[in-house]
This record gives sequence, C-alpha cells and structure tokens, in this order.
Amino acid sequence: MGDRLEGRIAIVTGAGSIGPGFGNGKATATLFAREGAEVFIVDYRADALEETRKIIEGEGHSVTTHVADVTKSDQVDTLVAACIERYGRVDVLDNNVGGTVAGGPTDLSEAEWDQQMDLNLKHVFLMSRAVLPGMAERGSGAIVNIGSTSGITFTGQQQIAYQTAKAAIVRFSRSVALEYAPKGVRCNTVIPGQMHTPMVEAVLAGQQTGGDASELIARRNARIPMGYMGDAWDVARAALFLASDDARYVTGADIVVDGGMTLKCC
Ligand SMILES: NC(=O)c1ccc[n+]([C@@H]2O[C@H](COP(=O)([O-])OP(=O)(O)OC[C@H]3O[C@@H](n4cnc5c(N)ncnc54)[C@H](O)[C@@H]3O)[C@@H](O)[C@H]2O)c1
Repeated sequence: MGDRLEGRIAIVTGAGSIGPGFGNGKATATLFAREGAEVFIVDYRADALEETRKIIEGEGHSVTTHVADVTKSDQVDTLVAACIERYGRVDVLDNNVGGTVAGGPTDLSEAEWDQQMDLNLKHVFLMSRAVLPGMAERGSGAIVNIGSTSGITFTGQQQIAYQTAKAAIVRFSRSVALEYAPKGVRCNTVIPGQMHTPMVEAVLAGQQTGGDASELIARRNARIPMGYMGDAWDVARAALFLASDDARYVTGADIVVDGGMTLKCC
C-alpha cells in the first residue's frame, strides 16, 4: 500500500485477463489502486473486468468498470467521457490492450493485418486523442503505452503485424512526448519481454507449441539471461513508475522489462 498515485484518476485498458491469474493490465490496475489512484478499468470482456473489480474492491479500494472495445472510436470517446463524468478528469492513461497473431507477410490475410493494427496500435491513437486535450488544458498528465520486445528485436517467432505495431508504439509515444512536453503531459513506453501472464497458456502455447504450455515456458525461460520469465507485476511496477511523479522528468522514454533478453541475440 502506498501513495504514489494518491488522488489520481487512472484509466487502464485491457484490465481483465485472458485466463486465471494476472495479466499486465489487471496487475497494473490493482497496483495503481493500491497506490491511491481512482481506477477506471476497461475491457471488452465483462466477466474478466468483473474479476478485476472484485480483486480491487476486495483490497478495500474503489474502482469503476466500463465494458468497451478500444479499437472503436465511438466506444473510446464514450468511455473517456464516462470517466470524466464520474471523476472530472483523466490524469493517467495506461494503454495496455494488445495481442498477437503468428505469421509473416505472405501468411497473414489483409483482415488479420488490419485486426492486428487496430488491436495493437490504433487504439493507442484513439485513446490518446481522447484524453490529451483535457490533460493539456490542465497542464498535467501521464500516458503509459505497453509495447513489446517483439517490436525491437526478433524474439523467436515471426509475428510480423504484431512486431510492426509494437515498434510503432515506441515512435508514437516519442512523438506525443515531444509535442506535449511544453504542456506538462508525459508519454512513455513500457516494453515487456517474455512475461508469464495467462496469455502464455491461453494463446501462445496454441500458436507456438501445438498447445504444450510447459514446452513453451521452457523455451521462453531459456531465452532470458536471468533464466526465468517475468510476470505481470514487473510490467505493472514499471508502469507505476512512469505514471507517477517519480518519473516527473521522464518523457519519450522506453523501459525494457525483459530480464536482459534483448541484450543478446535469440
Ligand atoms: N504476456 C507477455 O509476454 C507480453 C509480452 C510483451 C507485451 N505484452 C503486452 O502486454 C499487454 C497485455 O498482455 P497480457 O499478456 O496481459 O494479455 P491478456 O490477453 O491477458 O490481457 C489483455 C486484455 O485485453 C482485453 N482486450 C483485448 N482486446 C480488447 C479490445 N479490443 N478492447 C478492450 N479490451 C480488449 C482482453 O479481454 C484481456 O482481458 C498487451 O499489449 C501485450 O501485447 C505481453
């Protein structure tokens, strides 16, 4: 329990989790609430959101849930308006929604490419566009975008649309950071490596090892100089730093959270 986000209004997208346990958004929303933020959590799965709500309320904190698909501009505008109606403003935005489809340029259909761009990149634009005017008007705000080491290096499997979208998030964050620095708004990226979130069992094992999660986990651990995958709390702690005043002079930066994986070639 702390006060690093005391009184802040924080939106976290993708705050559910695809399976049992903690995904990055769920851990981030929980940690932000523990640190004093009023959290406004968003996911397109009501059941997943409900689970996160119960955890946060069970720890004695308040939370507002909002079901929305953040790839749709009308739903994004509605959710930001709902947060402002409830709390009066948005101080922190954690853009966490994302997910991958395997394949190279000749494997993916046009529809898969578009879906990946919408899911991993467009929503970052839509959400940022919706909160930035208010942040700039008040002269303060922090946006944290969730990238991926797949956007900065090859991590063992071709996922060309995901890799491209996650790379673009870093550039997007820097462009926002530069434009909005004089207005008191910071924008940074957390770049997670191979994290052991529920997505590993629920999605990646099917894509990469024919459903054998233990083989995939062993492969992922073996790539990491520290010898093991991180977890959602490692991502959440980096996001907390960037969202808080501890990072008051940090903007346009990326924090790689990968146990040293990108220090070596795969
Ligand atoms: N797990 C990893 O190893 C890893 C590594 C690098 C980056 N990341 C990134 O971290 C983020 C979260 O990953 P995770 O492993 O916690 O995944 P997760 O699938 O457990 O959580 C993502 C949540 O987003 C929700 N969601 C998906 N599409 C949505 C949409 N259009 N609108 C609203 N909600 C939507 C899902 O319902 C889910 O609850 C993603 O951006 C992912 O790319 C994860």
